[in-house]
Amino acid sequence: MQDFPKRFTITAALPYTNGPIHIGHLAGVYIPADIYSRFQRIQGKDVLFVCGSDEHGVPITLKAKKEGISPQEVVDKYHAIIKKSFQDFGISFDNYSRTTAKIHHETASDFFKKLNENGKFIEEITEQLYDTESKQFLADRFVIGTCPKCGYEESYGDQCENCGTSHNATDLINPKSVLSGNKPTLKKTKHWFLPLDQYEGWLREWILEGHRKDWKTNVYGQCKSWIDDGLRPRAVTRDLDWGIPVPAKGAEGKVLYVWFDAPIGYISATREWAKLEGKDWEPYWKDKDTKLIHFIGKDNIVFHCIIFPSMLKAEGNYILPDNVPANEFLNLEGNKISTSKNWAVWLNDYLEDFPNHQDVLRYVLTANAPETKDNDFTWIDFQARNNNELVAIFGNFINRVVVLTHKYYKGIIPEPSSISEFDKRVLKLTNIESISYSIEHFRFREALTTLMKVARKGNEYLAEEEPWKTIKTDKERTQTVIYVALQIASSLAILCEPFLPFTSEKLKKMLRFSDLDSVLTWNDIQTKTEFLPPGHKIGKGELLFSKIEDSQVQEQLDKLEATKRNHYFR
Ligand code: 2FM
Ligand code: ZN
Repeated sequence: MQDFPKRFTITAALPYTNGPIHIGHLAGVYIPADIYSRFQRIQGKDVLFVCGSDEHGVPITLKAKKEGISPQEVVDKYHAIIKKSFQDFGISFDNYSRTTAKIHHETASDFFKKLNENGKFIEEITEQLYDTESKQFLADRFVIGTCPKCGYEESYGDQCENCGTSHNATDLINPKSVLSGNKPTLKKTKHWFLPLDQYEGWLREWILEGHRKDWKTNVYGQCKSWIDDGLRPRAVTRDLDWGIPVPAKGAEGKVLYVWFDAPIGYISATREWAKLEGKDWEPYWKDKDTKLIHFIGKDNIVFHCIIFPSMLKAEGNYILPDNVPANEFLNLEGNKISTSKNWAVWLNDYLEDFPNHQDVLRYVLTANAPETKDNDFTWIDFQARNNNELVAIFGNFINRVVVLTHKYYKGIIPEPSSISEFDKRVLKLTNIESISYSIEHFRFREALTTLMKVARKGNEYLAEEEPWKTIKTDKERTQTVIYVALQIASSLAILCEPFLPFTSEKLKKMLRFSDLDSVLTWNDIQTKTEFLPPGHKIGKGELLFSKIEDSQVQEQLDKLEATKRNHYFR
């Protein structure tokens, strides 16, 4: 582990492009990744934050069949919707690419070729599941059956959604074709396998010994159980007509397995970005002073901790992930979020119902993030967190300070008279070390709680000092109190940036940060207690948050109720 990396390569799981994205995606992957990236950036670190659309694989071809359009049309449609949602929610990718991009096909193809030339694969003819009616080999999501590990009856061919195990389609008990509903037959076909069993010793040392202390318990535990169960060779090619053609002799009609090409998408996105920026991509993937962090959901752990690292190790020139802070899942009103049952809050829909409320959702999803266990999103909690925390604490504090500054001092920061020991303590309350520590350790909920404590303390300070009363009795004390409160408001503007970027922007504008001589940074909070000097003029107040009414919550609950009526719920 490197304590002081020169640069960060931060990746967020490439979403499948077979539908829009929902709050579960945002809570589990993209918000934590964005908080972490923004946090490192505002400290002046060299950060590259990449993602892109995962456009190959069976889910896309199934969606195309269902909609009666081509796979390319499916990915074009959802790539645009997903990309826009990320922009709308302030997810600050340096590059959002896609796996149908030419640069990705080249990168993935070259990666395969290199491993193949260096004898890193096993080529083998094996019997695979085949649907005689659809004339199609059945792998991955083309086949469902009983999971050999947990007994779940609707496990996919490559992974069981119930227990997370990843397996081969031929391991399924009672397999059934998703295309025809028929029982598959077996047919011989050649594939390229990555012999994961050969990496077992190395994985044991690298993860089980090397990352016992710094990886999250859920991630470490899953890795340990897979390694202890024994690893087997994994096919990295498929008999499919949608994907990246396998660049090898005798591979006509075969494509790379989507989970072989998708993580290479992080590398392609880096190369694409470097080309656009006129930079060198290699240090971001090959320099030992780079910290590589993969943000993912728990169903992706095996691919990012076992398979992709084994591919990188086989290639030989790449760095390995320093951490893979996978989250658990977010449920919605007590039920598992499900795309097929439309049990979700889609980001594009949310913004139609709650325009300009991006930070509210960012806040609620962080406060409730499924960091150590599955968590539930409810609309009542959403309303309560908005009304009782963002409006009543954060917004109220800022509003009071700004209004009073205008009312008493025409918007000009007053000169403090004497700063008491109590004022000094209040000025030190920003507790930046604790927020930084929590973010560095991927504990975003804890960091947000500490941030809110600052706003809470600001509110309490005003309530105790009552400047609206002292203005009549002690003008000097009132000046000091407003001065101190304005410094707290400024530190909040900086500290909330990773979590609430839109609010931070608004607040900085309100406090007219752009009129200051120098740009205030995260590190300034550690060393300074004055951010806005006496004499500096602030702008007019503007409400940062607004109350969410019961009727708005009811509307959302009614929508979900209608969904329930239309779908069968277990
Ligand atoms: O689970 C998913 O949605 C996958 N599309 C994630 C891919 S992550 C990466 F490796 F590309
Ligand atoms: Zn299972």
